[in-house]
Amino acid sequence: MPAKTKTTRATSESRPGPRSPAASARRPSSVRRQARIHSGKAHVAEAATSAGEAGPGLTAPAAPTTDNWPVHPLATPHPAGGGNAVPPQWRADLLDVLITEAQLARRVQELARALTHDYVGRDLTVVALLTGTVVFLADLLRRLALPLRLDFMGVSSYREGTASRELVFTKELRLEVRHRDVLLVDDILDTGRTLLAVKTRLAALGPRSVRACVLLDKPARRVEPVQAEYAGFTVPDVFVVGYGLDFAERYRNLPFVGILRPDLYAR
Ligand code: IMP
Ligand code: MG
Repeated sequence: MPAKTKTTRATSESRPGPRSPAASARRPSSVRRQARIHSGKAHVAEAATSAGEAGPGLTAPAAPTTDNWPVHPLATPHPAGGGNAVPPQWRADLLDVLITEAQLARRVQELARALTHDYVGRDLTVVALLTGTVVFLADLLRRLALPLRLDFMGVSSYREGTASRELVFTKELRLEVRHRDVLLVDDILDTGRTLLAVKTRLAALGPRSVRACVLLDKPARRVEPVQAEYAGFTVPDVFVVGYGLDFAERYRNLPFVGILRPDLYAR
């Protein structure tokens, strides 16, 4: 793994219980309206898919859970392909394009469909981790056909070599999340240390539920037993950049996800 100075990330989970009539009455009318519109279809689909909870490559959740709120099958990560031509201006930096712009767009749309289905009628607060989520988040948010609130948390992991070291919270939540359904959004789930730390921190704020949505999942490097309920792609144990992900704060603006040349970080 590259010698990174600083990265940002997180994710979470806790458990949605049954929604109380009182909570429902407090919800904005747009939320209640949407719940009515979608509720019939949602029940049929949920009943049919409740077995498909954790997808392949995901480990057991860290926190004990009594959650029986089904996760849509589209939440299961797809294997990332690779073998795509690197644009000439990036050939000195990248070995391969692992996930193309078109593949990203298709998968983000699918994740948005799954999330829209699962969060209908809930009081959704999206909590995104700075900074690697910015591109993914902007694309995902615009495809969520739901009323929601948005906030950010900052978490930095100071790394050296392949080891994640101490985690530092650099920005706290501004919004109240007590009794809310929180969706944590992060760029990549690697060792899981960040996700575990953020889930734990959020759980202490008393949300009704906390789930995680990550663009990429790198299960080969997992150290902590955490999972993301929603994941875009499973990636192999290579260092990836682009679509928000950085190496030493560079490459975030690439419109695709590429594999960084190991000689760039091995020096
Ligand atoms: P963790 O090990 O799951 O806690 O992740 C630590 C940090 O490393 C995260 O902020 C990620 O953004 C970053 N990270 C892990 N793998 C990659 C990668 O392949 N490319 C870019 N950043 C990565
Ligand atoms: Mg990062």
